[in-house]
Amino acid sequence: MAIRNIREIGDSVLTKVSREIKEVDKRLLVLIDDMLDTLYDAEGVGLAAPQIGVLKRLVVIDVSEEGNDPIILINPEIIATDGCQIGDEGCLSVPGKVGTVERPNYVKVKAYDKNMKEFTIEGTELLARALCHEIDHLNGVLYVDKVTDELRDVVYLEEEDEE
Ligand code: NI
Repeated sequence: MAIRNIREIGDSVLTKVSREIKEVDKRLLVLIDDMLDTLYDAEGVGLAAPQIGVLKRLVVIDVSEEGNDPIILINPEIIATDGCQIGDEGCLSVPGKVGTVERPNYVKVKAYDKNMKEFTIEGTELLARALCHEIDHLNGVLYVDKVTDELRDVVYLEEEDEE
């Protein structure tokens, strides 16, 4: 278990296409644990392996409020989408920023679990958005390239109080 350093925008690793995972070995299991530790430490919703500098097609997501319902996706692939949602998106690799991105409101994803068993997962709203965002990372795509207006600074309540 370890918290890994999150790579930030400008780091070339974030623009590269990640490689398919062929087998789950001990090293990959450690990587999965570290990614979950890193995700929870950063209080994020999702994290893709390239964000910690590993060009493998691996994603972890947790959209639960308690942060105790991790979804682990190996070689995920979007196989169906439906509808449209327009909303704000952020990324642990782009700290302090937020921007409006259009995403499907429903996605169905095919992936492999820790036993390399194929499964599908369906998501709407936040989960659909997270699935699209994280799978984009595996293809070297950041949400900042899909923002429909302009990237904005995250405004914290404390800052408003100071004014
Ligand atoms: Ni991201």
